[in-house]
Amino acid sequence: MAQRLKIATAAAFFKRARGGFDLAGSPALVQGDSSKVLARLPPGSAQCCITSPPYWSLRDYGIAGQVGLEASLDAYLAKLVTVFDGVRRVLKSDGTLWLNIGDSYTSGGRTWRAPDKKNPVRAMSVRPPTPQGLKPKDLVGVPWRLAFALQAAGWYLRADVVWNKPNCQPESVKDRPTRSHEYLFLFSKSEQYLYQADAVRGPNARNLRTVWDVHTQPYRDAHFATFPPALVEPCVQLCTREGDVVLDPFTGSGTTGAVALQHGRGFFGVELNPAYVKLAARRIGEAVKKRRLAA
Ligand SMILES: C[S@@+](CC[C@H](N)C(=O)[O-])C[C@H]1O[C@@H](n2cnc3c(N)ncnc32)[C@H](O)[C@@H]1O
Repeated sequence: MAQRLKIATAAAFFKRARGGFDLAGSPALVQGDSSKVLARLPPGSAQCCITSPPYWSLRDYGIAGQVGLEASLDAYLAKLVTVFDGVRRVLKSDGTLWLNIGDSYTSGGRTWRAPDKKNPVRAMSVRPPTPQGLKPKDLVGVPWRLAFALQAAGWYLRADVVWNKPNCQPESVKDRPTRSHEYLFLFSKSEQYLYQADAVRGPNARNLRTVWDVHTQPYRDAHFATFPPALVEPCVQLCTREGDVVLDPFTGSGTTGAVALQHGRGFFGVELNPAYVKLAARRIGEAVKKRRLAA
């Protein structure tokens, strides 16, 4: 596999690739909208997608076209179903999707959220109205709503892994427990799919369980929630082999790409925000360099 990271805007990438391209070639990072880019990728070319889309109405990544700021929950879910239809097309028939998604509470009539010095993308100038059927203070249940929507769209829902965060953010709430977990769903494209249960074992060599304790780990320079590499590693090892292509349509700081390359896999990433593309390019570029030196 060629060992140079290709970084380009979607327009430049597809112009250069007019004669066709192979996802299993050089790792690539494309700046653009994920559904538009996915629609132009060859079908059946990636083995696994490991991703974390923006959560609904929780983050403002400051760029037009971003997912997560839809005025209604239904519009957000519909947008993600479209993105993951594109992922399903691009996956091989035995491919899988590991999807991390967080939940939120209804805004309770609040129309904005104050900036947070440590995490500027938490500031929101708009908050969507309470979805129909829910009340102020209700937990929305976004992960399961999305899981059911993807199941209805044809995905096989195979596991709901609870990502337990032993170092979760404290919350100033007094009328419910502090939220300390997120979901990581495993979906497959077909009934039979690549899953190498022996590649990652639990304590006493038993089959992996569905609650994973993984500390959150901020990545320097990224002012938004990044995957801890330890959350991505088992997904790569369980559902891909050396040389297989891993996909991330919401690349952010590039954790999935860096981990995939460290494990000898290929990578294709899409990110809308050019500033984050730069960040991810640096991080994935470091992994590419290390791999070249080790070869
Ligand atoms: C939760 S972050 C991903 C973090 C990533 N897992 C990491 O470890 O850094 C979601 C990312 O999706 C990007 N994004 C939002 N809308 C997008 C779109 N339409 N197409 C591509 N990327 C988008 C945001 O800019 C943000 O970087």
